[in-house]
Amino acid sequence: MSTRTPLIAGNWKMFKTCSEAVSTAAALVKSAADVSGRDVLIAPPYTALYPVSEVLAGSRVSLGAQNLFWEKEGAFTGEISAAMLASAGCRYVIIGHSERRQYFNETDETVNRRIQAALKGALIPVFCVGESEQARDSGQTFSVLDKQIKNGLKSFFAKDLEKLVIAYEPVWAIGTGKTASSRQAQEVHEFLRSLLDKSLGRELADSIRILYGGSVKPDNIAELMGMPDIDGALVGGASLNADTFSAIVHY
Ligand code: 13P
Repeated sequence: MSTRTPLIAGNWKMFKTCSEAVSTAAALVKSAADVSGRDVLIAPPYTALYPVSEVLAGSRVSLGAQNLFWEKEGAFTGEISAAMLASAGCRYVIIGHSERRQYFNETDETVNRRIQAALKGALIPVFCVGESEQARDSGQTFSVLDKQIKNGLKSFFAKDLEKLVIAYEPVWAIGTGKTASSRQAQEVHEFLRSLLDKSLGRELADSIRILYGGSVKPDNIAELMGMPDIDGALVGGASLNADTFSAIVHY
């Protein structure tokens, strides 16, 4: 039996003003109050982090950001550091989301620097990997993931990564309504765990949480969570409404 605590995370992407974020967070705090044995996380846009942190204080819901920059401070207009996120109440930070890779030219190398900065700043990285539709169709799913994991986690030791969370998000399943089947997702999660075993050891591979993301909804979460290597979900669209996200949290 796995001893990994399930983590249900909501990535709000570029949605919600401060007041919208605060009211959704407040509704979620109420509806998640009875949840036990699992962790819950929301990642609002930067501007809403601090006001949402005040709503989440003392609740079962943790706060995360959607990205960070690796430098401590400096003339980097538009960027946000790990210390700034921590000071706004964040415990987690999403890193390497496919939308960042696709639209903002993030690479495995910059993802690696961001993970380093997050860990140095005592934030828990939610490190995203996933193959494109084209990669899957041409039989390259495992080689793409192998490269993303090896480069993203380059030069880390197992002891650095105890808290790390990995999110497997097949690009073709994000926002498309096409969920990977629980069998497809399990196959990849098992592969990711075996990669971690080979490069960082069994103990870490057994303890790291691997989330699935891509069109997770209240009606498919239970089946996904029934798979032995799926330890939670990273939810986009369905996390924006407190009732819908709460139904997922209560799978
Ligand atoms: P959807 O749940 O909207 O498919 O988005 C998934 C995602 O990208 C979460 O990070």
